[in-house]
Amino acid sequence: MVKVDKFIPKAIERISQQVHGRAIIALSGGVDSSVCAILAHRAIGDRLTPIYIDTGLMRKGETERIEQIFSDTNLQVIDAKDRFLGALAGIVDPEEKRKAVGETFIRVFEEEARLLGAEYLIQGTIYPDRIESEGGIKSHHNVGGLPSVMDFRSIVEPIEDLYKDEVREVARALDLPREISERMPFPGPGLSVRIVGQVTEELVDIVREANAIVEEELVERFHPWQTFAAIIGKGTGVKGDVRVHGWIVAVRAVGSRDGMTAEAMELPWDVLNRIESRISAALPTVARVVYDLTPKPPATIEFE
Ligand code: XMP
Repeated sequence: MVKVDKFIPKAIERISQQVHGRAIIALSGGVDSSVCAILAHRAIGDRLTPIYIDTGLMRKGETERIEQIFSDTNLQVIDAKDRFLGALAGIVDPEEKRKAVGETFIRVFEEEARLLGAEYLIQGTIYPDRIESEGGIKSHHNVGGLPSVMDFRSIVEPIEDLYKDEVREVARALDLPREISERMPFPGPGLSVRIVGQVTEELVDIVREANAIVEEELVERFHPWQTFAAIIGKGTGVKGDVRVHGWIVAVRAVGSRDGMTAEAMELPWDVLNRIESRISAALPTVARVVYDLTPKPPATIEFE
């Protein structure tokens, strides 16, 4: 376990040595990027501009919540929904999706950086992102999904050697609100990897609502390491007395220490039933709701 009281001053010092001008930080509101934003702010003060990109792939109410939490900083919120949906159009392969999202992120940041005269990009990449990308398991959008040519003098990754639980410890030591220090992980490519196959605005809206229901039912009561809903394909259902071909929504709730391995949570039947009935009632094009029992390995936590 990292020694937090040693890590914090060392990380701040390293950032001030690495950044010689203005920097931007990609703030997603998750614990990783929020910790980096605080460390970087302590290192370089107002030479740092935090930027939040609304990709249109965020969870329900997320953009508004982040605007509120960071309202006393010079946070810039960029609406790039159409660009991300455009970049993802027609893509089926999960790795291609990550690359499309990673590429679009970087291009938007480059444009903003140019406007601000910032030559450095600070990112909240953590250790498991790096080993999973290097090991070829998947290209995390903020690692292997990066385009090979980037218009930054340098990319600074202050927490690249930490595991998630260590990042949370640093967040607590930095007095970040619990809402952030204990926040469930949410993947950089957002809801795009919670739709198996092509991403459309219609499917993003469906999966966003299903995710909100699952989180409402499970987060406060069961404290899963991660929980969410994903659209995993189509199946037959019946509406009235007509057979329909509707979406299959899978519900996932896992316990884990660091995301490298995970096990499905044993949830009360009445809770699972309520999730099913709420999703089916709210989303008429969903024909089926299933609960995923598979541990990691052999499955991953996300479906893509
Ligand atoms: P998997 O699905 O590989 O996920 O078992 C492990 C953890 O990583 C998150 N995840 C990602 N995070 N970019 C990210 O920033 C990604 O491309 C990505 N893919 C998965 C996942 O949500 C889980 O917490």
